[in-house]
Amino acid sequence: MVRFTKGVALFEVSAPSNIALIKYWGKTGNQLPCNPSLSMTLTHAKTLSQFKVQIGSGKFTFLLEGSERIGFDSKAHRLWEKIAESYPALLKYDVVVDSRNTFPHGAGIASSASGMAALAQGLLALADVTDKKVVSDFARQGSGSACRSVFDQFALWGKSEHLPHSSDLYACDVSNIHAEFVNMGDAIVIVSSREKSVSSTAGHELMNHHPYAKRRFEVARENLAILLAALEKGDWEGLIDVCEREALELHSMMMTGRPSYTLMTPATLDFIIRFRSWRDENKVKAAFTLDAGPNIHVLHAHSEKERVEAWLNELISEKKFEARLLFDVAGLGAQTIDLSEAQQ
Ligand code: DP6
Repeated sequence: MVRFTKGVALFEVSAPSNIALIKYWGKTGNQLPCNPSLSMTLTHAKTLSQFKVQIGSGKFTFLLEGSERIGFDSKAHRLWEKIAESYPALLKYDVVVDSRNTFPHGAGIASSASGMAALAQGLLALADVTDKKVVSDFARQGSGSACRSVFDQFALWGKSEHLPHSSDLYACDVSNIHAEFVNMGDAIVIVSSREKSVSSTAGHELMNHHPYAKRRFEVARENLAILLAALEKGDWEGLIDVCEREALELHSMMMTGRPSYTLMTPATLDFIIRFRSWRDENKVKAAFTLDAGPNIHVLHAHSEKERVEAWLNELISEKKFEARLLFDVAGLGAQTIDLSEAQQ
């Protein structure tokens, strides 16, 4: 429950980004997915949103690092309106949200996932709603992938016969995870920080009339079944196979769409070829995946952290490859922290 001291409530929501192993690409209706997706919740790449709330008349102000920005701002306002419509008690407050990301812009980490998860969780806390399903449902309406950032470690979004409690409206925990995959690492290889040439909204739209859409949605379901079995058994081969095919299918959909987009760069492919050959030769428990951009995520077993980081650092320091690195690890979903005492 949010605490008011002298008429003011001050709290922060820390919400992580996530990286999808099974991709959400294609949506229908009110931001409902065309296939289930499965992601790993990150730890260090997150949005920290401070909420300052006073009794007022329903004024909502959204700031990014202290200033108003067009773009994310309007998405944030839309989410506020949706939540206030369902919980009109919120309209008795004036709310200022100041958000910042702990990761650089253009790093290939989805800021809308962490940003919308933080916003949904914070606004719902004001209405005394902490049920993760409800938080995830509203986060989804802000940005599809955001609904998965509410949950720890691995989250699944979208109705699947394999998880009876799954839904298209919100994400849920994937709890049957073998020790092999607990606290998995994610080494992010940033080969380009340029703005994406296609927004994810435009990308999803491509799937509405894509010649391979129907088959893609079926394959995503088949891949999910293989991945869930692999996660349960501790089967790295299974995970590598599915995870890499999913990344390449996402990019194939973009390349063969109308219009067509090429989001990989020569550096992306160069890296993938080097990585696969090193991984296979040294039997490293690691797989690459890609978001809708050129940067690469190397997902790896916790026990492989040193080997993966040493190889990447060497690759870059010997100037064989130009990139920046960010190291992350699977962790907890969105958390709310009361700041009112710190303020006194
Ligand atoms: C490639 O969640 O950013 O990252 O619902 O339009 O906000 P909107 O799209 P978004 O799409 C994410 C696409 C993806 C794959 C994934 O995260 O599953």
